[in-house]
Amino acid sequence: MQKLLIKGKKKLSGNISISGSKNATLPILAASILAHNVRLKNVPFVKDIFTMLELLKFIGINSKILTKKREINLLNNQKKINTLAPYKLVKTMRAGVLVLGPLLTKYKKAKVSLPGGCAIGTRPVDLHLFALKKLGAKIKIKNGYIIAEAKKGLKGNIVKFPTISVGATENALIAAYGAEGKTILHNCAIEPEIHDLILFLKKLGSKIKISGRKIIIFGNNSSKENVNHKIIFDRIEAGTYLIAGALIGKKITISRIDTKNLKSETDVLKSMGVKLLIKKNSISIISTNKMKKVSISTKPYPGFPTDLQAQLMVLMTQAEGLSKIKENIFENRFMHVPELKRMGAKIEIKNKTAYIFGPTKLYGAEVMATDLRASVSLVLAGLIADNRTIVNRIYHLDRGYEFLENKLKNCKAQIKRI
Ligand code: UD1
Repeated sequence: MQKLLIKGKKKLSGNISISGSKNATLPILAASILAHNVRLKNVPFVKDIFTMLELLKFIGINSKILTKKREINLLNNQKKINTLAPYKLVKTMRAGVLVLGPLLTKYKKAKVSLPGGCAIGTRPVDLHLFALKKLGAKIKIKNGYIIAEAKKGLKGNIVKFPTISVGATENALIAAYGAEGKTILHNCAIEPEIHDLILFLKKLGSKIKISGRKIIIFGNNSSKENVNHKIIFDRIEAGTYLIAGALIGKKITISRIDTKNLKSETDVLKSMGVKLLIKKNSISIISTNKMKKVSISTKPYPGFPTDLQAQLMVLMTQAEGLSKIKENIFENRFMHVPELKRMGAKIEIKNKTAYIFGPTKLYGAEVMATDLRASVSLVLAGLIADNRTIVNRIYHLDRGYEFLENKLKNCKAQIKRI
């Protein structure tokens, strides 16, 4: 099994070019079921994307990967479409459940494995099913599968989500695209990745209006055959490298981003006293000797993202005083804490809040993580720790970080895969 070996304390300097967003690509790949021919640019070639392509292949949609161009071409020739998403493909990646909306809206039926829980929480799909039922789907759960049908097709309706969910908003948006008439979604997630999906659906011929957390979709039957789309940048990857720069950057510049999507992240870093030079499409960051404590709560966008909480916690171990993180999105997302404590961090957890006492010296150790963002937080801790850190189970990292060690190595980090 592969591991990452990191020799800490090496100052980082250089440029990091940010990849396309994994979380934007996944729903757009699912929505590609609706089109004939799709060309996606700026695709990050990470494990989750390949898992989704495997699922699409199982369904009957072929893809051609142009690695050098960072492109994927997808072809739905309608011949042998399988409306099944099997357990073996959905269990490894929850986003597999996003094929439910497009299959149902286009082929009027779908059988999709329930994704089950994962390390960060139970992660149910009740909100996805709630929205699809409102659009007229008949749904039952049998033998671990969601079995959905809409014999006469989906019909537009008003859907008021009781709580905000990224995935449920995406499934509902894609389903509403193929529904008859108008759908109004209230209390939607409005992450930049949702905006990217909306842009993609518009290119497919849909009319969509968005105002605050309300999205209106006018059902479309005359979809465009060919669609070209460039995926937005990965704001979580960008935030991760910003934190690396704040931790140990002589000067790091991250580029190929849109800084207006990183406001909550840069606001937190500024309040800690980190020096940032923010331009429209790049940010330079320099670490500072004295960082101030900060308290944050994770929230849906435009709030601070849960996907950056573990990374920020490492930075908080270096700030003066007592910092706090309240995790509001997932119930079990402090799995990195015991490992950070083994490296010397002083952290206590009470209910949903982590209390981080700083500044603390971190020491290299052999560590392992249970999810994607927790793994990268251990890499960040390794960059500032004394001696050697070994991060195990890096298949988690490979699910979502493209060229992680190369990007860090280019900035002079001492890191290698063994
Ligand atoms: C997406 C992101 C993930 C990020 C999360 C929150 C992708 C592929 N993944 O995940 O990286 O951490 O948003 O920003 O884009 N919930 C329910 N019922 C449902 C659906 C969700 O109770 O039907 C709960 C979840 O358990 C969680 C909360 O709602 O507590 C938010 O989940 P959601 O926004 O749906 O996250 P995902 O779409 O799974």
